[in-house]
Order: sequence, then C-alpha cells, then structure tokens
Amino acid sequence: MDNNFTLDLADEAATLGFGAAIAKAITPNLTIYLHGDLGAGKTTFARGLIHGLGFVGKVKSPTYTLVEPYEVMLNQTESLNLYHFDLYRFNDEEEWEAAGFRDYFNPTSVCLIEWPEKAAHSLPVADIDISFNLKGDGREVNVLAHTPHGEQCLKKLQQSVLKCSND
Ligand SMILES: Nc1ncnc2c1ncn2[C@@H]1O[C@H](COP(=O)(O)OP(=O)(O)O)[C@@H](O)[C@H]1O
Ligand SMILES: [Mg+2]
Repeated sequence: MDNNFTLDLADEAATLGFGAAIAKAITPNLTIYLHGDLGAGKTTFARGLIHGLGFVGKVKSPTYTLVEPYEVMLNQTESLNLYHFDLYRFNDEEEWEAAGFRDYFNPTSVCLIEWPEKAAHSLPVADIDISFNLKGDGREVNVLAHTPHGEQCLKKLQQSVLKCSND
C-alpha cells in the first residue's frame, strides 16, 4: 500500500539510525539507489545500514574503488553479500561488464548504489529509491519503492520502527 514516505533526519546520528532501521527490514535480492548531492548523507546512511547488519569495522567510502563488498549474517543463519557502490567516478559503461559488476546483483545480495545516474544504462532497476536533501542544518529523506519486493521492505520498516515518525 504505502510505497513512499518522507522523513526528517536532524543530525548525523539520525541518518545512521535510519540506515540501521532499514537493515532490519531488508531481505536478499534487493537494489537500493541512493540519490543526493555530495555531502547529502548517502555514505553516512550506508554506514548505518552496514553496521546495522552486524558488520564490525570501518565502512569506507567506495569513492576510488567503485565498490566495497561486505559479507554479513542475516538472522544468524543466512549469509548476505552487501555491495556498496559509489559510481561518482564511473564514466565508461563498457567497464561495467569488464569489471563483472553484473554478477554483484544476484539472489543473495543487497546492492546500495550512490550516484546510480552514472551507470544508468547498465544498472538493474531499483527496488527502492532513497533521496537525501539538505533541510536546515539536517536532512530530509524521501523513500520510494518501485517493486513488490521494495514495497514489502518499506512495509516492514514502517510497521516496526517508523510507526510514529511518519505522520
Ligand atoms: N541528518 C544529517 N544532518 C546533518 N548532517 C548530516 C546528516 N547526515 C549526515 N550528515 C553529515 O553530512 C556529511 C556528508 O555525509 P556523506 O554521507 O559523506 O555524504 P554523501 O555520501 O552523500 O556525499 C557528513 O559530514 C555527515 O556527518
Ligand atoms: Mg558518498
């Protein structure tokens, strides 16, 4: 039913918390696009999500490597590959195939993609679009699901943690 919502994130901790909240709602085979200008909070959100999945350690921005892989456990039983892309420096669509990025999108993975616009012709469609915008000293985030799987994830998210902040 509700396939989109908007949320205010007052500070960095709120962005991390929002990422951690989504971590509890995701299931494998999901593609999430992260939109927003430089400094909008995309990497901060990814950090919150990856730590929320139980990864202990530094979550580096994949600005130079294009992608950083993480292997985490989901519900202590199922292993999940999370790939955090930052395509800001990506400018050759042929490189997509050459680098084998296509294989990163599979039934056991979740892909987070900063700057998806840079590889628009190569990327699989998004299940969820998340857009970050500056608002005062904080950020406003807009979340939009495009597929049944994306909607299922948002529903789970809204039911659990966002119940009170959505109205
Ligand atoms: N909700 C927020 N309010 C204020 N500052 C934030 C918020 N979320 C993140 N930040 C700050 O914004 C800066 C840029 O964040 P980053 O996640 O690297 O942006 P991006 O990946 O979109 O370029 C960081 O200094 C971070 O602490
Ligand atoms: Mg970034």
